[in-house]
Formats: sequence, C-alpha cells, structure tokens
Amino acid sequence: MVKSKSSVKSKKKSVLNRTIDFFVNSSYRAYLVGGYVRDATLGLSPVDIDVMVEGDAVKAAKEMNAKLKGKLYVYKSFGTASIIIKDERIDLATARKEKYPSPAKLPRVSPSTISDDLNRRDFTINAMAISISKENFGEIFDPFNGLEDIKKGLIRVLHKNSFIDDPTRIFRALRYKNRFNFKLEKRTKTLINEAVEKRLIKHLTGQRILNEIKLIFEEPQYHAIVKDLSDMGIFRMRKKELEQLPLFGSYRMYFYLANLNLQGLPLTAEESKIIKEMKSMKNILPKLEKASRKSSLYRILSPLSEGVIRLIPSIRPGLKNKVSTFFRLKRIKPFITGKDLKRLKFKPGKRFKTLLDKMWELQLDGRFRTKKEAEKYLKTLKK
Ligand code: CTP
Repeated sequence: MVKSKSSVKSKKKSVLNRTIDFFVNSSYRAYLVGGYVRDATLGLSPVDIDVMVEGDAVKAAKEMNAKLKGKLYVYKSFGTASIIIKDERIDLATARKEKYPSPAKLPRVSPSTISDDLNRRDFTINAMAISISKENFGEIFDPFNGLEDIKKGLIRVLHKNSFIDDPTRIFRALRYKNRFNFKLEKRTKTLINEAVEKRLIKHLTGQRILNEIKLIFEEPQYHAIVKDLSDMGIFRMRKKELEQLPLFGSYRMYFYLANLNLQGLPLTAEESKIIKEMKSMKNILPKLEKASRKSSLYRILSPLSEGVIRLIPSIRPGLKNKVSTFFRLKRIKPFITGKDLKRLKFKPGKRFKTLLDKMWELQLDGRFRTKKEAEKYLKTLKK
C-alpha cells in the first residue's frame, strides 16, 4: 500500500508525541538528539526517533514500552534499547562519555551527561539536542553551532583528533556531504586528507569497513560518494570502472568490492562467490564473444550465478542475444539422464558424468532432435 505523505507524517507525530508525553511525565532527563534533530532542522522527515537519557536508558525504555506497547529490544551492555511500534522506531541511549584507547579502536564508554555525550560525537550537525524533560522542555543544546552549519551546509568535525579516533567518520562525512548536498568545512577536509595520508583506514577491522561500504550503497548518492572517496585517495577506482558502477543495479556493491580487492572483509560465502565471478568477467567475456556453439555458451555461463549473468548485457550490449539464448537453453530438459544410462545398462561410475555432459552438449548443438535419436547415438557408444 502506498502511504500518502500526510498519513506518514501524522503517524510519526503520534509516536513522537507519545515519546515526549512519557518523558515529560517522568523524572528522567531526556533529549531528542543526533540524527533526529539534524533531520527535523533540515525539514526532512527523520527516519528514527533518537532519544538520549541522562541515566539508565534501558530502564526508561522498559517503562516507556509498558505504556506504548511496542516491541522492545534491549542491548544492555551498550546501555541502549529500541522500541518498534509498527514501522516506527525509537532508539534510546544512555548519555555517555567515550575514550579511544588507540587510533581506530572502539572506544571505552561510560555513562555521563548530555554535555559529554554531545562532545563525543562526529560532526556539529549531529551534536545538537532538544530537551523533552519537564524542567527545561524545548531547551536547545547546540554547543558546536550545528544549527549555523546546517544553514551554511557544512560538515564540520568537533575536534582535530576525530578521524584519528574513528576513521569510519571519513566515510560518514562523505555520506552526509552527498546526502544533504553539503560541503566539507576546510579544516575538516584537511583533517581527512591527513588521516588518509596516515593510512588510518587500514587499522579498522574488516567488519567496520564492510559496514561503512554497505551504508554507502544504501544512499541514493552512492555514486558521488564512491567518487569522492576515490578522489581523496580512499579506495581508488579507475575512471572506466566508476562510469560502469551504476550499471550493476543491486550488485553494484559487489562490483565495487571486486574492484577494490580488499582483504579480511567478513563476507558470506554467497557474497564471496559473486565477487569472484565479477572478477572473472575480464576473462569470461572475451571467451563468450568468441563462442559460436550453444554448448560452448552453456559451458561458459552455467557455473555463474544467475544475477551475475543477467548483468552481462549492461557491460557488453553485444552479448545480449547470447545471454537470452543461454536462459532459453536452461529451460530445456536433457534427453538423456542417469536413469536412462542405467536402463541402457551402462556401468555406473565416473564415466556417467562424462557421458551425460557429452550427450547434453550434443543435444544443445542440435545433434539429435528427439530422445529416441539420442538413445540411438548412445547405443553406438556402448559398442
Ligand atoms: N556517531 C559518531 N561517530 C560514529 C558513529 C556515530 O559520533 N562513528 C554519533 C553521531 O553523532 C550520530 C549518532 O552517533 O548522530 C548516531 O549514529 P547513527 O545512528 O549512525 O547516525 P544518525 O545520526 O542516526 O544518522 P544516519 O543514520 O541518518 O546517518
């Protein structure tokens, strides 16, 4: 069902109002924060409601959910919880302080105040909060002038060690830059360049790098982000590959990964297979161009995943007919199966597979038109 904008808005408002009602009538000191404040200021409909609690956010979430009756997810060790009500999501986090043990390592966190929580953040536009507590309801906390940066369209870090502490912020900066069509503030850009020169991204775990890459490809502006990264010397792409990237539809992230050749990413077996196949395209496409027999076409394409095969015409439009032919051939049933070989008293063993493959290829190339003809041929082989 397609929801009208106004219905989405009014639903969001009611979950937001219920969140506010809960905190206004509680003794918790709580704030709308981060992405929520940023998006609302930009006039965008925030995706999630981010709430920061000075105190125990998990306890607050449990009490709140008893009233709102959504689905509660608790991440006790992080001091965070989420409540999902239909398709609305409220993220609650305990206000915290962060200390980075060494560059690119995850921080040590401890519960703290709103001021520390805003200080630990990545960019000024994400470091704003609005109180939803009774005593100072509506008070805006904007210690780094995030509102001003939103007006100016700037992505600005809070301090000079931000990218050293957490190099994933380099990816985040470029995501926000392109999502909102903002600019990198001058010093922030210099700090990114310095972090790149120091090769800090290499210190991140494969899991964190992969998370960032996945987030980039969830953005409609993924292409501009990847180009920015490449221009800044991060995961460089050749011009030709950059131009090809949009062709790869839902597989574009795999095309990107196939080009980057990064080691140590926690990919699933299926993902690794897709990437391997994408890399093999360089060798496969010339072979496919040369293939004149249907059996050769089938032999070349059948080991590949269907999704990868379907991408071939966008890379080489001239191969469109061959790909269509392949999918047509895939629907054909072989005249001769293992059962037939047994019935015709062929001895089971390794030879079975060779024989079946051979019969199948001959059938594809039109050597026989009926099962009867195929069996007749088989009998000649037995002699
Ligand atoms: N944050 C940070 N450094 C990171 C990740 C997150 O400082 N490496 C902070 C930011 O202040 C951010 C908040 O944690 O606002 C929540 O992070 P996240 O959920 O990733 O971002 P959102 O602000 O919700 O923005 P979006 O998901 O729309 O990108």
